[in-house]
Amino acid sequence: MNLRDYIREIQDFPKEGISYKDISPMLQDPKAMDHAVSLFIERLESQHIDVVVGIESRGFFFAPLLAQKLNAGFVPVRKKGKLPAETLEENYDLEYGIDVLEIHKDAISKGQNVLVHDDVLATGGTARAACNLVERLGGKVVQCNFIIELGFLNGRKKLSQFPVESLIQY
Ligand code: PRP
Ligand code: MG
Repeated sequence: MNLRDYIREIQDFPKEGISYKDISPMLQDPKAMDHAVSLFIERLESQHIDVVVGIESRGFFFAPLLAQKLNAGFVPVRKKGKLPAETLEENYDLEYGIDVLEIHKDAISKGQNVLVHDDVLATGGTARAACNLVERLGGKVVQCNFIIELGFLNGRKKLSQFPVESLIQY
């Protein structure tokens, strides 16, 4: 099975000149989902994971599935103002301006092994902010994984101190 067949490219979304990689066909196909989860698990090479962090919102599609498979907990990293208890915040750059991600302060304990998941690695700013939150809580980022990597945006550079895996590259 070639997972690339389950990505649909939408031209000029959300803006002119951008070719949006839509994973809806993958989400609609249980066999493709299963295949993607298996590949993610294989690439962890049996490393022990305590917590899977998923990044709002598109990171939420897969992160709980991975957590279940790994017998790990799922922890959401959310955009500012969504988490009810005490949080840590981390800023990250957008094309225009900055945005803020948050994590619950009690979501990760010191020394826990953490897998950080998101759907797409573009510039790497979002994933880097999530990794910073994990490290500020004392967690160890064992790997960052993504369904799609937009290689031409060099997101790996921003994540250079962490192992990075992606299933499909453009
Ligand atoms: C998209 C995507 C990643 C992020 C990647 O999320 O889902 O989270 O951008 O970009 P970066 O590597 O340049 O930081 P977006 O912020 O559009 O929000 P969404 O997941 O809520 O749709
Ligand atoms: Mg996102």
